[in-house]
This record gives sequence, C-alpha cells and structure tokens, in this order.
Amino acid sequence: MRVVPVKGGALGAEILDIDLAEPLGGNGVQAIRQALLDHQVIVFRDQQLTVEQHKAFARNFGPLHVFKFQNARQLPGHPDVLRVVKEKDGRIVFGGQWHADVSFLPRPLLGSLLYALETPPKGGDTLFANMYLAYETLSDGMKDLLEGLVAVHESDVPNQGYGADPADYVNMSHEHPVVRVHPETGRKLLFVNKTYTTRFRNMTADESRPLLEWLFHHATRAEHVWRLAWAPGSLAFWDNRCTQHLPMTDYHGCRREMHRVAVLDEAPAAP
Ligand code: SIN
Repeated sequence: MRVVPVKGGALGAEILDIDLAEPLGGNGVQAIRQALLDHQVIVFRDQQLTVEQHKAFARNFGPLHVFKFQNARQLPGHPDVLRVVKEKDGRIVFGGQWHADVSFLPRPLLGSLLYALETPPKGGDTLFANMYLAYETLSDGMKDLLEGLVAVHESDVPNQGYGADPADYVNMSHEHPVVRVHPETGRKLLFVNKTYTTRFRNMTADESRPLLEWLFHHATRAEHVWRLAWAPGSLAFWDNRCTQHLPMTDYHGCRREMHRVAVLDEAPAAP
C-alpha cells in the first residue's frame, strides 16, 4: 500500500495498491488510520465492494453510525448505510451546502466512507476543506476571541435553498466550542459550518450572524480546499472532525449514486 498526497496544498491523499474487499491486517488498519490523520481525506480508486465489504472495511475504524433520522435514505436492510442518490430528473443534491456531517450530535462522527456506484460523465465532484488550516490562518486576535466562544449546532435548519429534504431532519441540537481540539492529533481546529451552526451560546442568531458568516467564508477559502473527482469504484474516507465538504450541484440531467457508511468517534480525548 502506498500513500500519495494529492497535488493540492490543503489536504487529501490517494491510497494505492490496496484491495478493500480483502480483510486488512492490524498493520494495514493502523497505516490507513495514520494516513487519515495525516491527510484528513483519503481516496481509494477502482474498488469493487459489496455492501457487506464496505461496512466491514469501515468497522476497522470503529462502530458504525445508524442514521436514525434519515430513514427514507437508508438502504433497505442496512440502517447503517445511507443512499446518497440524485436521479436524472432530480434537482436536489443531498447535503448541497458546506457542512461537517451531523455536527449537531454530542460527539461528531469520526468519519464517513462514501463509495461511488454511479457517477455522471462530468460534474458531481465533492469539495473538502481543512479545518486545521482554517484555524491556523486566523490572526492571533481572532484566535483569542474565538477561544472563549461556544456555538450551537442544530439539525432542524429551515430549508435554506440548498435542496435539503426537510423530512430528513428532526429537532436535535448540541453546543460545541468554536475552537475544538482533535481527539487524536491534539491539533486545534475551527468547528463551525454553514449548514448546522446557527448562533453562539447566549447570543441571538441575529447577533451571531456577522461573525459566523465571516468564519464560514474563511473556513472554505480556496486555499483550504481540495476538489475530488469521482469515478465508479472510488471510495473517499474523510475525517469528519477536522474537515467540511460540499458536493457540487452541477450535473442536472444525470444520475449519481453513492453509499455512505459512517464511523462513530470513540477516540479518547486529546491531552
Ligand atoms: C454528503 O454530504 O455526505 C454527500 C457528499 C457527496 O455526495 O459528495
């Protein structure tokens, strides 16, 4: 197995010479976990996985998350597999605004493993942004200001025009520090996202908006972003604790189908 960083400067690596349908030894799991911690998003190409093999690979990194609140999208018989599908005539792209997955949960997911079954001939890429960089590139003054702030993340966001299906959401909410420490690397990162972060604790949404909007903009500046082009058989594994992602809405008239499995974060807290 070889880990080859992508050309972009922000994050991302491809893992070559590996067949994910085969069981991994302990060393293999350790090497992949380290690659994820080092590069935040890792991509495997030309894989041929059954649903069970996809889940078995994900289970190497922790227990699987069950998407209780998104029943309509569950793969029948697999409550831990989310179908991310846009039909040819569909206009809605699932998750079509910058976000970290389910950041309104008390413990954000370790990561998601998205496997491409069908991709459009062009378009349908996913953008990933590095939240370590988003924090590290702030001025000292802004870092000091943010250190004391806690933000509210809510699932029950109104449809903000990005095509989310309101039936996906129930009223869940949790507060997280705006500057989080990654539980495994111990590095600081910016933890707010445009989809689920609604306000700062003890402030109204109106009062919070100017700074939040600036942080959303800063977090996803082009310098912090890498763009993944999919093909059938590509599998991307992202560290949901230190990245955000945005699927592009640029393939109307074409079909795209992916399966997403997510891993719970059980890593001990960083020192
Ligand atoms: C998601 O937000 O999990 C979907 C990402 C994608 O479809 O590229």
